[in-house]
Amino acid sequence: MNLRSKDLVSIKDLDAGEIGLILETASGFRDVISRDIKKVPALRGKTTVNLFYEPSTRTRTSFEVAAKRLSTDVINIASSTSSVVKGETLLDTAKTVLALGADIVVIRHSCSGTPHFLAKNIKASVVNAGDGTNEHPTQALLDLFTMQEHKGRIKGLEVAIVGDILHSRVAKSNIYALTKLGANVRLIGPPTLLPDFMRDLGVSIYSDMNQGLEGADVIMMLRIQLERQGKGFFPSTHEYFRNWGLTAGRVARAKEDVIIMHPGPMNRGIEISSEVADSSRSVILDQVTNGIAVRMAALYLLSGVRA
Ligand code: CP
Repeated sequence: MNLRSKDLVSIKDLDAGEIGLILETASGFRDVISRDIKKVPALRGKTTVNLFYEPSTRTRTSFEVAAKRLSTDVINIASSTSSVVKGETLLDTAKTVLALGADIVVIRHSCSGTPHFLAKNIKASVVNAGDGTNEHPTQALLDLFTMQEHKGRIKGLEVAIVGDILHSRVAKSNIYALTKLGANVRLIGPPTLLPDFMRDLGVSIYSDMNQGLEGADVIMMLRIQLERQGKGFFPSTHEYFRNWGLTAGRVARAKEDVIIMHPGPMNRGIEISSEVADSSRSVILDQVTNGIAVRMAALYLLSGVRA
């Protein structure tokens, strides 16, 4: 079995079998990256280009490490230091990297739909590393992998996703993935940050955090996107923490063996207390490590489709 598309731009495009295949392939690579020699020759001779038009720490470095562990050549292009600042279009930049021999283009962009546009217009495989407020598919896949690692299953899990759902591409990709695999998803946050269309996605919605966390197996906190808060979605960060910040007292509402997740970067003291972020229930750094294995799986399987 392989993926059906040359691209990975959206969780919506994947069926449950394809998600399972990526997670299973990632499990093999998780063993590889735990060894002394963390590299395999699987994609020797291929070239991966990381094209980042927005800041990133985890995703960009994770794709770079994943590509290197698979023995591909890696080219990193950040828009701020490229000819984009001289007015070059996205498509011209992409065609240039193809002329340099790119087989896979990993793109992050502030505009929703950019990876889809690129995928239609270039021959290389395109991987969405986060597009605007739309999707972040490999983040959701690494989140699923981490849940499966700690809970042994996805089906039937009670997963509470808390915070700025409106602006979160991580939340959207996770909602699509978790509901496809049979988890029960609860969205928790201020009503102003919970868009109405979410009600049609088969999730439960809570504005009372204590109620929403009751009996949860997984709590996934989201970053409050401070750069987008000029519109008065909530009165103040102090008020936000008081109502929707994750404290040890609120964690106690969930199951005893609950795991705490966060895609990062975290705003400590705004959406999550340091006590919780650094607690034994936190799997936030496991998410980062698992991201390498999941991205190795994605790059490897996409190369199979293209071969
Ligand atoms: N989780 C995530 O996308 O983090 P970065 O913005 O650091 O890549």
